[in-house]
Amino acid sequence: MKADVVLGSFYGDEGKGKIIDYLSQKADFAVRCSGGNNAGHSIEIDGKKFAFHLIPSGILNKNTIAVIGNGVVVDPKVLLEEIKNLKENGYDVKNLRISDKAHVIFSYHVEMDKLQEELRGNGKIGTTCRGIGPTYCDKYERCGIRMGDFVNKRYEEQVRKNIEVKNNIFKTYGHELIDADLLIAEYNSYADMLKEYVVDTVAMLHEAIEQDKKILCEGAQATLLDIDFGSYPFVTSSNPTIGGVCTGTGIGARYIGEVYGVLKAYSSKVGEGPYITEQDNEIGDKIRELGHEYGTTTKRPRRCGWLDLVALKYAVMLNGLTGLAINHVDTIGKLDKIKLCVGYKKDGKVTMQYSTDVYEMAKCEPIYEEFEGNFGDISNIKRREDLPENAKKYLNRIEEIVKTPIKFIGTGAGRDCMIVC
Ligand code: IMO
Ligand code: MG
Repeated sequence: MKADVVLGSFYGDEGKGKIIDYLSQKADFAVRCSGGNNAGHSIEIDGKKFAFHLIPSGILNKNTIAVIGNGVVVDPKVLLEEIKNLKENGYDVKNLRISDKAHVIFSYHVEMDKLQEELRGNGKIGTTCRGIGPTYCDKYERCGIRMGDFVNKRYEEQVRKNIEVKNNIFKTYGHELIDADLLIAEYNSYADMLKEYVVDTVAMLHEAIEQDKKILCEGAQATLLDIDFGSYPFVTSSNPTIGGVCTGTGIGARYIGEVYGVLKAYSSKVGEGPYITEQDNEIGDKIRELGHEYGTTTKRPRRCGWLDLVALKYAVMLNGLTGLAINHVDTIGKLDKIKLCVGYKKDGKVTMQYSTDVYEMAKCEPIYEEFEGNFGDISNIKRREDLPENAKKYLNRIEEIVKTPIKFIGTGAGRDCMIVC
């Protein structure tokens, strides 16, 4: 049995949670691979809304083991809050496992993230200020604290050294200093509460593969936010693309099966940086209101625009996507006219080549095809062939250009509003 993967195709917030929710109902293991609580998706069950930032939403199925993989950075405070919230709503959290190799986000990482954003001034990235970047920095600098050492309280010496270094920086910029004793006392209590969940998840997942168990890998963030393949520096600090799934779980490429790329029938972005099909106008405002495009993590209004097939092709190629999951088809269908970006004009030539160089991107102008909207209420439709003609035309054109089959079509906000092709 191979592990299936769900990835974001653009700038995040594509509705990965909806597809993950569906697929994880049949999964024995649901695994987060990279990123941290900069991610966020919400799932609505029986009118109750659950927001997930760290725990794989597969935890809602009582037979699924929810795994926080080694590639994830974990804020213990946020995680404990999520555990508490689930317990209060009657969900058992005994199926949670956290990799001993995942790195810990401390409060000084969060403070450093905020300070760095301040120092960037006009060149700010627009991070979620959750300490993600600074934690990955420590990981690569090899002074980070891993969950295994954290819950076994083998981290004190290293964390004191780290605090000394950070405090020197904080002092330089007049930022409040961190008290090492207080921090350790606080975090020791978190370590005690999390100890029961920490295991060698790599060994566990390989045993699962041997036993033919179904594994679902949940991507967080998305292709264009990738530290290598996104529009650097307006990216996150990990690899949300397919490579990050292998390194973030310890699952080798040969055990990977379907790779689904999630997208919306339009596009959105939070944070700074170039965004070629952005509609910084009434259309963008309308899409934002219709699609409720406000951040799950930071509540920021999202920048909105048309779907960009040049970028989608890039995501297909980079991740080797085997299928697409397209959400908010109902939302885009509320407009009279819909535009689809089918190429760029750059230096007087038409191109389908996506560039992540921010200077090259500034030269690109989108080429649009126009489609009729007004799809009507499609929320109860269960077969693709029953969709209205206008919706079919739009979806067919997407498939035709990116040469990848659409496997899931989101038709509304509810859990069941989805066509499985
Ligand atoms: P999900 O999983 C949307 C963006 C931030 C910022 C950049 C870097 O919900 O799709 P970071 O805090 O990661 O250092 O910020 O990346 N970003 C996201 N945008 N959805 C996300 O996750 C994101 N995670 C990070 O807005 O531009
Ligand atoms: Mg998000």
